[in-house]
Amino acid sequence: MAKKVTVRDIAEMKVRGERIPMLTAYDYPSARLADEAGVPMILVGDSLGMVVLGYDSTIPVTVEDMIHHIKAVARGARRSLIVGDLPFMSYQVDTSQALHNAGRLLQEGGAHAVKLEGGEKVAETVGRIAECGIPVMSHIGLTPQSVNSFGGYRVQGKSKDESARLIRDAVALEEAGAFAIVLELVPAPLSRVITQRLSIPTIGIGAGIHCDGQVQVLHDMLGLYADFVPKHARQYARLAEIMSDAFTRYIADVKDGSFPGEEESFGMDEGILEELGYKATIPE
Ligand code: KIV
Repeated sequence: MAKKVTVRDIAEMKVRGERIPMLTAYDYPSARLADEAGVPMILVGDSLGMVVLGYDSTIPVTVEDMIHHIKAVARGARRSLIVGDLPFMSYQVDTSQALHNAGRLLQEGGAHAVKLEGGEKVAETVGRIAECGIPVMSHIGLTPQSVNSFGGYRVQGKSKDESARLIRDAVALEEAGAFAIVLELVPAPLSRVITQRLSIPTIGIGAGIHCDGQVQVLHDMLGLYADFVPKHARQYARLAEIMSDAFTRYIADVKDGSFPGEEESFGMDEGILEELGYKATIPE
């Protein structure tokens, strides 16, 4: 049995100066491949809503959606630490709602940790969840669940006030007990300051090279959406092209009768059909 990665292992990676790769996954096969490749942390992000379920934001994603996909990922990943996102309005109402839903992601889904968006304002919630023995990853900068307040997906922390607020948020979350913090769409120099200021790891997405780790959305890095590639994403494959080509060839093969061939078909003792009164071989 492979040794599971723990939050302690993640903390030690920062101490050793070892960079931390993290990827999202939402289903069994991708979790299995990411795990086998050696990704130490898998995020079942609520980006699920956009990249898998076809919504135009993460807002409609429910706790039930999250549990369904976390379960599939947990069946595929044997070694990686699985972090499950608490979706919109599943932790903001009050602490007892947050504890209840965080518990569900672990008990019903099989996650090892939860992630929730927000800074100082949610620090108390982060602290209460962590006190219950549930590791919490925080998420600041561009927090997609607040897209309607931000008025779009744009870089955060460029002004003096915003930089100061993000630094305050990060420190408050570390003090509250978060084991790591995602920095999303944060200028690289500010990520450097936050990363140096904290003893817990920072995990960047669009936050530059100075973070302790990086997280990418699987569909972005695999090139599954040919029409949109975020500036912060690097495409390691162009699966959309490969899949479209495969679909086109499949359609052609079915239409021209070249699929299935002999090698994709099953034979039998054709005498049985003759005994039943049928001609065994179908005429050409
Ligand atoms: O939901 C998600 O995939 C995320 C990452 C973008 C960090 O929160």
